[in-house]
Amino acid sequence: MSGFSLDWLRLRAPFDLAARNGRLATDFVAALPRTRPLHLVDLGAGTGGNARALAPVIGGDQVWHLFDDDPALLAGQGPEHSAWTARAGYAARDEATSGVLIEAAGARWCLHPRRLDLRDGIDAALAGPCDGVTMAAFADLVGARWLGRLAAIAAERRLPLLSVLAVDGRREWRPAAPEDGIVCAAFAAHQRRDKGFGPALGPEAPRQLAASLAAQGFAVTTAQSDWHIGPGDRAMLQALIAAEAEAATAAAPDAAPAIARWRARRQSEIAAGVLTVIIGHCDVLALPR
Ligand SMILES: C[S@@+](CC[C@H](N)C(=O)[O-])C[C@H]1O[C@@H](n2cnc3c(N)ncnc32)[C@H](O)[C@@H]1O
Repeated sequence: MSGFSLDWLRLRAPFDLAARNGRLATDFVAALPRTRPLHLVDLGAGTGGNARALAPVIGGDQVWHLFDDDPALLAGQGPEHSAWTARAGYAARDEATSGVLIEAAGARWCLHPRRLDLRDGIDAALAGPCDGVTMAAFADLVGARWLGRLAAIAAERRLPLLSVLAVDGRREWRPAAPEDGIVCAAFAAHQRRDKGFGPALGPEAPRQLAASLAAQGFAVTTAQSDWHIGPGDRAMLQALIAAEAEAATAAAPDAAPAIARWRARRQSEIAAGVLTVIIGHCDVLALPR
């Protein structure tokens, strides 16, 4: 288990969709080969939300390899794809273990779940057919050495790479609270804990990824892709506050009383309908020159 639940990925999905930078996605698509089908690799795919966001933008026949190591999330891919195709009016055929085949706008999209532990599996993930690499909300979990290896393989194979929605450390709670600084620092320390990929980059990930790719000769562009969460988004606010308070307390047990005050204050602000937050994310696009 990775610790990322199906419920959490569902809750964040509309905020992810609204936040993604459209220009970087369009430039990624323009750099892909014109031939079809395209083979695309998504790293840390969860239930496949990144493929669902990108497939219609890319257009034409596509084969997606959706790598993750969490069996529950991999099992969730089929049902999430099916719910999406029903909402969008596409036709879908569940191919059981081999994935889902979707027919949309004259194109066929094959979405394959691939179980792989990416800690030592990045070479294997990119060993098969691949025209482009994508990842969403994944770069901040890994370490600098792992990103360096990813950049080196992408350069060797001249693969365009699009990373979206990595946190960049900006958090703007409104109204501000006296405990924001303590909570934010403790939460950032928790994000940097080693998840098996070396010390996690957390908010440093977008900068480090961009630097690793530029060092390999890619043309790199970055753009902000922030979540904007308003007073009406109560479930998202509740989830964020609970996750942030728990992580911050684990990282800084001495600050537990201040963090508990922060949590109570934020909960009463949700109830009063006055709380908003912007969570900073960054998309990174790398194109072979
Ligand atoms: C924040 S979630 C993002 C999921 C998905 N990309 C999305 O945007 O909805 C991070 C994902 O990384 C996956 N992950 C974490 N460690 C992993 C590992 N060692 N190997 C493969 N996947 C991993 C988790 O299972 C989870 O699905």
